[in-house]
Amino acid sequence: MDWGLKNRLSGIINQQNGKGVMLAVDHGYFLGPTERLENPEKTIKPLLRYADSLMLTRGVLRRCVAPESNVPIVLRVSGGSSILGEDLSKETITTSIEEAIRLNAACLAISIFVGSKYEHQTLNNLSKLVDQGEKFGIPVLAVTAVGKEMARDSRYLGLACRIAAELGAHLVKTYYCENFEEVVQGCPVPVIIAGGKKLPEKDALNLTFNAIRDGASGVDMGRNIWQSDQPVEMIQAVRSIVHDGLSVEEAFNSFFNKKGIPSNELETMNTR
Ligand code: 5RP
Repeated sequence: MDWGLKNRLSGIINQQNGKGVMLAVDHGYFLGPTERLENPEKTIKPLLRYADSLMLTRGVLRRCVAPESNVPIVLRVSGGSSILGEDLSKETITTSIEEAIRLNAACLAISIFVGSKYEHQTLNNLSKLVDQGEKFGIPVLAVTAVGKEMARDSRYLGLACRIAAELGAHLVKTYYCENFEEVVQGCPVPVIIAGGKKLPEKDALNLTFNAIRDGASGVDMGRNIWQSDQPVEMIQAVRSIVHDGLSVEEAFNSFFNKKGIPSNELETMNTR
């Protein structure tokens, strides 16, 4: 593998333990001002020091993250549809490779919608992006986006992850599911998981623990961190599972019980 590409990847997935914590704040690219991400700068700032990498669009990067910050940037470069549009899968590449280089991106992120109306277009986008990224030593993260009608099971997610890797993605993001180890085994590049909709903190930590146990190389987590009432504690707890091998109980007690709030109260308090 090319030196630059390997160097960029090593900022995202730690080469010592093969794990990484990516903080996802790209949701606005199709959702608009999502709850607790209305002011991205305010959301991102306290969490940044605990993230190995930050996933976002160029617009939020330019306006909401200081250029002096040394966190590796995973630049979302696909989009073009909104939740109000015809079909979310109708995506194109929205940011040029020159712009990604100017912004010092460590990785390019793009969604693929396997099984959707625009499957071909999004797979074609991925292939083209890999060609461009490889030309300049920038790895590509394929986001296996799931349409409402798709089952999030190991057969479907395994298919989407494998196709992403076959087309040249260097890293794949998917969802945790039953028999997740089959998804990982069938995918020759590292797999990281999205957190999905907000869960009670302990459930999200459990999801993290199970994914790591079953072979995930880390998380690309958003809502379960910054929609928590204690986002800093949450990202630290997630980190402690991903990097330090803590159990769910250990992680929860280390970060949520340190203020002496009984854990049962805390879980109720944070459940929406
Ligand atoms: C949206 C994304 C998000 O970055 C991804 O889903 C991770 O965020 P969350 O943990 O909130 O699901 O790619 O398309």
